[in-house]
Amino acid sequence: GRGVAMVTAVAARLAAHRRLLEETLAPFQLNTKQLEAVQVQMREAMAKGLRGETSSLRMLPTYVRATPDGSERGDFLALDLGGTNFRVLLVRLTEGGVQIINQVYSIPECVAQGSGQQLFDHIVDCIVDFQQRQGLSGQSLPLGFTFSFPCKQVGLDQGILLSWTKGFNASDCEGHDVVHLLREAIKRRQAVELNVVAIVNDTVGTMMSCGYEDPRCEMGLIVGTGTNACYMEELQNVVDVAGESGQMCINMEWGAFGDDGSLGMLSTCFDTSVDQASINPGKQRFEKMISGMYLGEIVRHILLHLTSVGVLFRGQQTQCLQTRDIFKTKFLSEIESDSLALRQVRTILEDLGLPLTSDDALMVLEVCQAVSRRAAQLCGAGVAAVVEKIRENRGLEELTVSVGVDGTLYKLHPHFSSLVTATVQELAPRCKVIFLQSEDGSGKGAALVTAVACRLAQKTRV
Ligand code: GLC
Repeated sequence: GRGVAMVTAVAARLAAHRRLLEETLAPFQLNTKQLEAVQVQMREAMAKGLRGETSSLRMLPTYVRATPDGSERGDFLALDLGGTNFRVLLVRLTEGGVQIINQVYSIPECVAQGSGQQLFDHIVDCIVDFQQRQGLSGQSLPLGFTFSFPCKQVGLDQGILLSWTKGFNASDCEGHDVVHLLREAIKRRQAVELNVVAIVNDTVGTMMSCGYEDPRCEMGLIVGTGTNACYMEELQNVVDVAGESGQMCINMEWGAFGDDGSLGMLSTCFDTSVDQASINPGKQRFEKMISGMYLGEIVRHILLHLTSVGVLFRGQQTQCLQTRDIFKTKFLSEIESDSLALRQVRTILEDLGLPLTSDDALMVLEVCQAVSRRAAQLCGAGVAAVVEKIRENRGLEELTVSVGVDGTLYKLHPHFSSLVTATVQELAPRCKVIFLQSEDGSGKGAALVTAVACRLAQKTRV
């Protein structure tokens, strides 16, 4: 009688919800064909960028010509700007290993998005504080500046900021040499003396720090707040730099891949919403599908949609879910860690004040999985494109190569790294790719670049 009718109605509603969930997540499920297409497009964009033609990949020369040989020694200062934290570091490269002392400083959003002068004054204040604490005042140690934004370099110690990315947008910096901006701030502060030797992208620092131990490391990868990669390219393929023989590390700035619309086929309405609400609409479209700064936002937009069609949270919209950045990407890592799974979903959502049923919890988990899975696969397609390029450059049938990796998403997410590996295996079967997690790539790597530069400078002086 009535009981049966009610059960049937509930079952029908659940089936309808399931269907809506699946429809919503379908565009996030990429098949091998689609991933291969991404790989092919990436290869084309790389080739164009290297030739100096218009391309969403800028393929920036870094003036790093060799990975370390392990003989680098000395004390160095390093700065790390552009990741989760701003840090000042003292790096000691000794016979016995690498010692790092570092101090984290915050960069308030108002400074990151304020005036350039304010930002660089703040940076110098932090350096001065660090020098005082470490008893380094008055010494001018060689300094490597890990500056994780796209820069057009014409030498190791010059980098013109092309555009801010991630959460930064300080005025009067784009189009200017970042080392010059730092030196100007140092002058304003009179008291300090600094010897800025190199400006280094975090991908390059990561590659170098892993290269210190493994000479086969020829690629650097970051999947953290942002995402990007670098690799060793043959100099003869780089039109922007004179010289025919040897190699140079190229900062791909792959976060911008697809900014010419070429990823349009893969982009969902949720990606569009996240992009439109960001501080740089239309920019860094690949990054916005992959990196830590955005995955939580994609999930939030999907949850909003599923709520509006009545599938989630009994159709009740809450203020909370409408708050930007409320759904942290670290929640994805927590929600997807197997041991915690659904219990974790409950705790997180209840903390956010979202009324949930057990069906809700399961659906939220599925949303997170779909979003992070796509991210890892896209990242894998990118890596596959790069290692295949290296293999072809060398004219090898088979290549063994190591990739230095850093970034909170890659390191903390329970499945991200294995999905990247699986995708690379599928798309680049002729390459044996070993992923090495770097330890403090930005600090140690900047010191290594600086050390190599100092060594070369000494050689030319002799
Ligand atoms: C952004 C920056 C890039 C950096 C990456 C990872 O994509 O533009 O330079 O390497 O984030 O931090």
